[in-house]
Amino acid sequence: MNASARILMCPPEFYGIEYVINPWMNTERQADQPTAASQWNDLRRILGEHGATIELLTPVAGLPDLVFTANAALIYRCRAILSRFRHQQRQGEEEYDAAWLSENGFRVEVLPEDHFFEGAGDALFCGDTLFAGYRMRSQVSSHQLVAARINRRVLPVELVDPYYYHLDTCFCPLSAEVAAYFPGAFDDYGRQVFREHIPTLIEVDKDEARAFACNAVVIGSTVTTNTGCPFFHEQLRALGFTPVATPLGEFVKAGGSAKCLTLRLDGEDAAMWAHGDR
Ligand code: ARG
Repeated sequence: MNASARILMCPPEFYGIEYVINPWMNTERQADQPTAASQWNDLRRILGEHGATIELLTPVAGLPDLVFTANAALIYRCRAILSRFRHQQRQGEEEYDAAWLSENGFRVEVLPEDHFFEGAGDALFCGDTLFAGYRMRSQVSSHQLVAARINRRVLPVELVDPYYYHLDTCFCPLSAEVAAYFPGAFDDYGRQVFREHIPTLIEVDKDEARAFACNAVVIGSTVTTNTGCPFFHEQLRALGFTPVATPLGEFVKAGGSAKCLTLRLDGEDAAMWAHGDR
């Protein structure tokens, strides 16, 4: 399989737990800077070794969550639908994301002011369909606007557990027809949406969901996650994927892991292209 990818990352120079906007965060459980830096460097190296070209966003003092580039925008071909963060603590990131994206050839599009939207953290393609998480961060109305703009089908699913406040913490498309999810993060309707639309669905258990199993970076058949998801990795191997584990505990303290630290610049649906469905 021809695995190539362009991925945006942001070095964790100013990363830390400076506020609390999700249940994982606690300012008294600070991230260890050197460990965070080495975990981030390892992730960057692993993704590079598996065919990704890594581009870098310059870190900014006072914006500790800028490292989570998945939340910068939803990339659709040469368009970047910019995030509108729900929490004031992250809103300062928007101008830096917009600047990098427009300087690097993307057409940056913004949503109307009262529409919260947290980019590729909440909107993920599986096949032709954009699965979109709402309630905790993004609003369902934002997803409808995005779908209309890019003219793609969107299936909104409600996030019901505050620990899984972004869709990419509990759902991971692996190819056009395969995905993993943590059923406990959704209501009956949401679970039914996944079961009806995705032919092969891996169920991640509670312990491995807590280890951010679903927050995986997929490059071709290589799937990179935090450590602590051995059962998920076994399931991946059985389906022909190659799982890679790398410790990301310092980022889990902020409620993020591998996928959150990356933004796929060749399109969030690019993982699907490798499987020849378009
Ligand atoms: N502390 C960040 C927040 O709460 C973590 C973001 C993780 N990003 C993600 N795509 N899930 O917004």
